[in-house]
Amino acid sequence: MKLFLTTLAAIIVASVTTLATAQEIKGNVITGEKKVALCLGCHGILGFHTGFPEVYRVPKISGQGAKYIVSALTAYKKGERKNPSMRAVAETLSDQDIADVAAYFSAQGVVDGATIPATPTKEPKAAVAALLTKAGCVSCHGSNFSKPIDPTYPKIAGQYSDYLYFALMSYKTEGKPMIGRSNPIMGAMAKQFSDEELHLLADYVSSLDSELKSIQQPRLR
Ligand code: HEC
Ligand code: HEC
Repeated sequence: MKLFLTTLAAIIVASVTTLATAQEIKGNVITGEKKVALCLGCHGILGFHTGFPEVYRVPKISGQGAKYIVSALTAYKKGERKNPSMRAVAETLSDQDIADVAAYFSAQGVVDGATIPATPTKEPKAAVAALLTKAGCVSCHGSNFSKPIDPTYPKIAGQYSDYLYFALMSYKTEGKPMIGRSNPIMGAMAKQFSDEELHLLADYVSSLDSELKSIQQPRLR
């Protein structure tokens, strides 16, 4: 266990360092708004499903942390996240574009002064509680799964359950050309669980109060 934690700490330091460059660029919400037309075709439609490589809902990104959005887009651009649609999108974005669209989505739909409970109002079933404790999910994602300890980590409370499950499976998947995420921290987490256990985790986290939204675009209704 000690060795595992030391390795994990080293991995965290390494991944934070590689992100530093893109994150020093300051994003602008107003400029960002002019760059998101393409994104809204998928992220601006409530409950929109992707059909490839599997069927699941396109994640909510409005209200997500800006630094996490930068980190995720950078990972698609570098191929560390293999989803083909998002890789194609991210390859067209400069580091400045990434900072701007991240600022836009992070600010979008956030209501001033609105807060969600510090801890979930919904208790997990005993089986789920044991899984959450085993991996210490709250130690990184926050006690309500919406206050990550580092701004490059995601808010996950209230995200679509089928997307959460697919994301968790992606961290487990190796050697496939179009599915997989190489993030070592979540790889170590997800690989401890069976597919069924990942389903239970995804369903519970998805049922919690959320700061995340998909904002329906009137034009695309
Ligand atoms: C063709 C549909 C499509 C378009 C267009 C699109 N996305 Fe995505 N986006 C997806 C899908 C599907 C995923 C989930 C991919 C995966 O499983 O990793 C995703 C994932 C993401 C994520 C990661 C979310 C998370 O919680 O980790 C971010 C951030 C994101 N998209 C931002 C954008 C931005 C910004 C644009 C426009 C510049 C955009 N997307 C355009 C379909 C799309
Ligand atoms: C040591 C810190 C740490 C722990 C513990 C941890 N996570 Fe994560 N989690 C992260 C980081 C960092 C990311 C972003 C990885 C990336 O960039 O792809 C992440 C990403 C995720 C994602 C993808 C979110 C998205 O929007 O795509 C899910 C789902 C997730 N974690 C669930 C969990 C669950 C469930 C647990 C407990 C079983 C857990 N995490 C434990 C650090 C952690």
